[in-house]
Order: sequence, then C-alpha cells, then structure tokens
Amino acid sequence: MQSETTSQDIDLGLQGKVALVTGAGAGIGREIARWLARAGCRVAVNDIHAEAAEQSAAELRAAGREAVAVVANVREEAEVARMVEETRRALGDLHVAVNNVGMNAQRPVTPFVELDGDYVRDVLEQNLVATTLCCIAEARLMLAQGRGGVILNVSSGETTRPSPQLIPYGAAKAGINHLTQSIAAELGPQGIRVVAMAPGTTLTERVRETFRQEHVDAIRESNPLRRMTEPEELGRMAVFLASDLARCVTGQFVLADAGAHLSRSRPANADP
Ligand SMILES: NC(=O)c1ccc[n+]([C@@H]2O[C@H](COP(=O)([O-])OP(=O)(O)OC[C@H]3O[C@@H](n4cnc5c(N)ncnc54)[C@H](O)[C@@H]3O)[C@@H](O)[C@H]2O)c1
Repeated sequence: MQSETTSQDIDLGLQGKVALVTGAGAGIGREIARWLARAGCRVAVNDIHAEAAEQSAAELRAAGREAVAVVANVREEAEVARMVEETRRALGDLHVAVNNVGMNAQRPVTPFVELDGDYVRDVLEQNLVATTLCCIAEARLMLAQGRGGVILNVSSGETTRPSPQLIPYGAAKAGINHLTQSIAAELGPQGIRVVAMAPGTTLTERVRETFRQEHVDAIRESNPLRRMTEPEELGRMAVFLASDLARCVTGQFVLADAGAHLSRSRPANADP
C-alpha cells in the first residue's frame, strides 16, 4: 500500500474559494489576483480606479476564471464595509482577503526633519489605517461565516532595517507586522490565519517607469541573489500563504526580497 505522501495529489485547498485582493488594478495586487485565480479562487478585484479594477477582472474572466471588480477607496471605513459586502453578495463566503494597498501615498522621499503632519498622516492612513480597517471588516465577516479564513497583509522589507527618508512608510509597515501578529493571536481560535508578506523592491510597471536604471542595477547588485523580486513571485507566495500548504503558519511576516535584508551594501531608498 502506498503511503499518503505518495498516493495523493497536492490539494492547495483553494479550489472554488473566494478571495478579495485590494489594490489589484495594477502591480503586485494584480499579480496576486492572477495567481489566486490560477489556484482556483473566485476573485474580487478591488481598486480605487474603476477602469483598473474592471480591466484586471476582465483579464481573469477572459482566462476562464470567475472574477468581479469592486471599486472602493480602502482608506474609507464605509467603503471598506461596502467592498466586503459586495464581494460576499457577488461571490459568496469570503475565505482569503489580501490587503495589498500601500506605498508611500505618492509622496516623495523626504528627510525626517522636513516631514509635516499631512505627509505623516497620509502615509500612515494609506498603509496602517487602510490595512487595519480592511482587517476589521474582513474578520467580522469571517467570524460571522464561522468557517475560518486567511487574511494576508502586504508589508515591506523596509521593516527589517531603518528606512531613512521613508520613515513614516517604514513605521506604518512595521505596524502592519505587529497588527498581523496580534490579530492572529486573537482570531486563531476561530480558525482565522493572519500572515504578512514583505516584498523587497519589486519590478512592477511603476518601479520600471520611475526608477533610474543605475538605481535598479545597484539594488540588484546589492541583493545576495543578484536579482530583484518580480511581481509574479509575490503571486506565488500569496498562493502558498493562503493555501493549506501553509495551514500551520500564522502571525508572522515572510520576506520575499531576494535576500535584501542580508545585504550590507544596500542603496538608500530601495523601496519606493
Ligand atoms: N513595488 C515595490 O517595490 C514594493 C516593495 C515593498 C512593498 N510594496 C508594497 O506592495 C503593495 C503594492 O505595491 P505596488 O508597487 O504594486 O503598488 P502600485 O502603485 O503599483 O499599485 C497599487 C494599486 O493600488 C491602487 N490603490 C491605491 N490606493 C488605493 C486605495 N486607497 N483604495 C483602493 N485601491 C488603491 C492603485 O490604484 C493601484 O492600482 C503596497 O502595499 C506596497 O507598499 C511594494
């Protein structure tokens, strides 16, 4: 008789499950939505820009997947509640929620002493507040459903070291790591796993367009793997963390940074 390990195919446990991905109209979020769909999820694609959300959802449908666009600004509590409810109404019980919206709120890198309150509040709101509001609404729904679930927050490799000139961003992402730990502890008994993934500088369209080539080369050269993270690698990672392969993983952040956190010669402001 064959043992269980050789006789059974690997089941990711994601077939037919409903996944919501915020900020999935572009970049890393769009790639996460693509990979969760490939793993069998039915996907709600959120973005603040209707056209971007519709385009990502249409691409998934064209590939034979089930997907809907849910337009909402995840910085606004009422819009977050509507986003989660629209997802449930369109696709059914929510199983995987990926809180991907973040970035430096389109603010330039700025020395600490030149920051002002508007800048600080904007970046904290775009990252820590928005992610917290999403986690609250998603966790409420998952608890009401009573079938557990997975919440995956997108953090940053910036949290492994000081982030000069990006101080509110680094602090907000470090807050997301702690938030992830705490919610995991509180909701673990109800079968809800909460994890974070922390990308290093990732070659999204935006990074390709806005970073000077010398800067990209310098980051690549300073990473132990001599490469940069590709958006699709974060899609793969999201599938792993959301799947039953990671069913014992909760309350931690997992780096996907080509080893950047190990580097002693990392260029400044490598994470936009
Ligand atoms: N790109 C990188 O190098 C990198 C590195 C580390 C961490 N990250 C993190 O990864 C996540 C995604 O980054 P990205 O580079 O793919 O960003 P991006 O700017 O390329 O895409 C973000 C998407 O989110 C949408 N969005 C922005 N604000 C929103 C809001 N309030 N509500 C709903 N949608 C909104 C945008 O319209 C856009 O489609 C962020 O949390 C970022 O901090 C990125």
